[in-house]
Amino acid sequence: MNTNDKKLVIYFSRADENYSVGNVEVGNTELLAKEIIAKTGADEFKIIPEVAYPANYQETVDQATKERNEQARPEYKSDVDISNYDTIFFGYPIWWGDMPMIVYNFIEKHDWNGKTVIPFNTHEGSGNSGTYNILKSKMSSATLKGDGFNMSGSTARTEDGIKELDNWLEGLGYIN
Ligand SMILES: Cc1cc2nc3c(=O)[nH]c(=O)nc-3n(C[C@H](O)[C@H](O)[C@H](O)COP(=O)(O)O)c2cc1C
Repeated sequence: MNTNDKKLVIYFSRADENYSVGNVEVGNTELLAKEIIAKTGADEFKIIPEVAYPANYQETVDQATKERNEQARPEYKSDVDISNYDTIFFGYPIWWGDMPMIVYNFIEKHDWNGKTVIPFNTHEGSGNSGTYNILKSKMSSATLKGDGFNMSGSTARTEDGIKELDNWLEGLGYIN
């Protein structure tokens, strides 16, 4: 790994009531994001919705269904200039076998030319659900490095899950 490489972790993650983990203060994907930040020294950018998703799981599911059907592009608060970065870890949960629509909005608003992008995601059974291929086409001017990392949200909340993440980072050369 080039030590001058400027790294950024961009992620979307929702706390509150979620599938199989109950009510949580920090979302599953965020736990992985924070570990990547801690281990690699990357900067952090969290995609925060302009209008927060409901704390109630079913209400969020209903809203996500509507957004996906409409191919909505929900707005997010503040932004980040990615032009200063070389390597971008890009994380999100699977919603309806896809990336949340707010994540599409973020992707479409940025120029990925020349970036090295490393995707990671959490789910509860769908794996990456083909989203890494979508990233490849949406970020066609970037290089996607490695095979990405996906983990169930409940595993992401365990020590073993975090160890598995560390092993993956080590395999990519980001932890000595
Ligand atoms: C609206 C919604 C839709 C979801 N759809 C799927 C799905 O299609 N497949 C799947 O495996 N998990 C699905 N899940 C579960 C999440 O991917 C999983 O709980 C994830 O770890 C949440 O990450 P977060 O805490 O970072 O937001 C869904 C969760 C929500 C809230």
